[in-house]
Amino acid sequence: MKLPYAEPYRIKMVEPIGQSTPEEREQWIKEADYNLFNLSSSKVFIDLLTDSGTGAMSDKQWAALMRGDESYAGARSFEELKQTVYNITGYQYLLPTHQGRAAENVLFSAMVKEGDVIPGNSHFDTTKGHIEFRKAHAIDCTIDEAFDTELEHPFKGNIDLVKLEEVYKKYTKEKIPFCLVTITCNSSGGQPVSIENVKAVKELSDRYGIPLIFDSARFAENAYFIKKREKGQEHRSIKEICKEIFSYGIGMTMSSKKDGLVNIGGFIALNNEEIFRTASNFTIIYEGFITYGGMAGRDMAALAVGLDEATEFDYLESRITQIEYLGNLLIEWGIPIQRPIGGHAIFIDALKFLPNVPREEFPAQTLGIELYKEAGVRGVEIGTILADRDPETRENRYPKMELLRLAIPRRTYTNNHMYYVAVALKNIFERRNEITKGYNITWESPILRHFTVKLEAAK
Ligand code: F0G
Repeated sequence: MKLPYAEPYRIKMVEPIGQSTPEEREQWIKEADYNLFNLSSSKVFIDLLTDSGTGAMSDKQWAALMRGDESYAGARSFEELKQTVYNITGYQYLLPTHQGRAAENVLFSAMVKEGDVIPGNSHFDTTKGHIEFRKAHAIDCTIDEAFDTELEHPFKGNIDLVKLEEVYKKYTKEKIPFCLVTITCNSSGGQPVSIENVKAVKELSDRYGIPLIFDSARFAENAYFIKKREKGQEHRSIKEICKEIFSYGIGMTMSSKKDGLVNIGGFIALNNEEIFRTASNFTIIYEGFITYGGMAGRDMAALAVGLDEATEFDYLESRITQIEYLGNLLIEWGIPIQRPIGGHAIFIDALKFLPNVPREEFPAQTLGIELYKEAGVRGVEIGTILADRDPETRENRYPKMELLRLAIPRRTYTNNHMYYVAVALKNIFERRNEITKGYNITWESPILRHFTVKLEAAK
């Protein structure tokens, strides 16, 4: 018999998680105004709200933490991190920040001005927020295949070259500071971008004199998919693939809370000295001195080890195999999910799962609330609430897809937890026709409303 897959690690420390009854959860979610962000984590059994900063560090990372150098300027931990980032990306300038969106804030302060346009593949919400906050525009050029959840395409994060060239033709070079390539593409389902596509985007952008920047939160997972799915890449190491991808850009923003395998942190890495100089000033104003940028020395030390571990094949295989395990159970039971299975999460197609809930009553949010009530599992809506209102017309923006994301923290839950989640969804799926009502907004903030929105059950 062929031996089954098993994780290449064992568990040294455990953390109890709280169970609850359906009646308790019904009450708690009501008190939280039906916003899953408002729930205390003690009221959640399996927390799949995000894979960001929720993973488990390794023994080597904890050991590195003890050796962190807390010097204000020129800490050894900074030098170590800089060297690791250089080894993986080839970028020589490093600016640490306290997390990914802070890297966006610093870099965009240096590069984006009012009226600019930033084409890319489904910009992440904070990224879009930082662009729109500067009265600039994010233009989504993701390939159309990404928006059909059932269609199998190995690289649904890819940028459509025709759409991109239209943007390049419509606006002058002065209005397009860079093209932003998000690897993997979170908003369209944790879907990867191929090397071939990045190369083609680079060639096209070169012709118009526009540089590429990578939003690299899950760059290692992206490299894993390239190795597994792209012809001619199967014999290369993850680190070789990463190096090549980054060679097509002038720099990156990073949320270290994902593929950095740490609980907090971010950075900007660049090859362009001029942008580095300008961004350094903003780092000092917003984050801290340029050799720590909001991070403790010990956190930089753990991050250096984390980046190295995250770009090892065995680690990535165990991570993606777990996500595929959950995804394949759901597929087997007929539950509509974004395919192929993505890198960090399962995305459930709520329009297909709950066809009787009107679009204006937020089907993906409704499914998230149902899943919490059913089993104490917390996911997150990637749909109309997240898409927010158009900054000019203030109308709701209805995205092409209405998804419930179940993001899997790294090295944190077992496959039994995944099975539990799958069964909970199956139970809801079996009674989906009875769910006909969703939720209405009673209060929302003018920007990034999903974090604080208040809802009530639709009558
Ligand atoms: N870019 C991408 C692609 C992201 O997914 C995130 C965060 C960020 C940037 C911002 O990084 O959180 O460190 O400030 N995504 C988290 C998520 C929040 O749940 O997907 P951050």
